[in-house]
Amino acid sequence: MIDLFDIRYLRMGTPDLESAIEFATRIVGLQLVSRVGKAAYFRSDKVEVRGDTRDHTLVYFEGDPKDHATGFDLRNPEDFDRIGAELDNAGYPVTLATSEECELRRVKRMLSFKDPSGNRIEIVSRPYHSGTRYFPGRDSGITHFSHIGLRTTDAGRDEAFWTRIMNARVSDWIGDAPLLRVDTAHHTLALFPSPHPGIQHINHQVEDVDDIMRSYYFLKEKGVRIVFGPGRHPLSSAIMLYFEGPDRMVYEYSVGVKHIMPEQEATYRPRQFPFENESFCMWGSKPDLPEFRADGEGGADADAAGRRAGLRSVI
Ligand SMILES: [Fe+2]
Repeated sequence: MIDLFDIRYLRMGTPDLESAIEFATRIVGLQLVSRVGKAAYFRSDKVEVRGDTRDHTLVYFEGDPKDHATGFDLRNPEDFDRIGAELDNAGYPVTLATSEECELRRVKRMLSFKDPSGNRIEIVSRPYHSGTRYFPGRDSGITHFSHIGLRTTDAGRDEAFWTRIMNARVSDWIGDAPLLRVDTAHHTLALFPSPHPGIQHINHQVEDVDDIMRSYYFLKEKGVRIVFGPGRHPLSSAIMLYFEGPDRMVYEYSVGVKHIMPEQEATYRPRQFPFENESFCMWGSKPDLPEFRADGEGGADADAAGRRAGLRSVI
């Protein structure tokens, strides 16, 4: 079992680095902390929230927009020496990073492998912290980076990978998509069925509901495509807003995500929700996201989609 602590960073290619920087800072509200070669590093975490002074949470680099990596750090850095063999033995060949690759990620050590869907996963040891505090690119109210939607080509298979080889636990299912926690937050990873791998959405938590609504009007005024919300997720209880960024990457702001505390772990039971709009939003907002729609390309629960189509033709 590999005891992950949290997602440490995301790395994403983009053909237009300058536009991605503009969007990340002036629209999302991240802080541009450095530029190294053809890569830009962003930070999003207020130290008061998690006591975290992490060096960065997101990197855009000039490259293929389908080239995504998710970096996790370990609860115990000394586990790093054994997990490579553990992954190799489980059938996931591991590549150990060179010192140059580690320096680019601002970590002491790093290994990478592909999850069963082909998502590039990096596990790091002793990632760098920063001596300077977070200063946002705009007043969006972001308190910290929180979770991602990760694409899966087989949700059941990947759920088994993340819960058996890794320490993730299922918090709830929506259709076939498991929402997985590694810490107390309801989900750190949400595996959404998709024809291809990749990061599906990126969540940042904001301070309160006012930030969600302020951003809703701000994004509309800036001509940013809002793809879901404002609304409230029944699964995690979070109030949310989703919008489209560079290379059609979806960003989410949310507030009020449910936590499952250590003393609740023993008795917590994951719940199954149907793959329906009402399971995504209890206020009635309808997602304009294929992976969140029963009739979309995601096909997260093809049977349910079929049943619903049948039902619609009857009533
Ligand atoms: Fe989300």
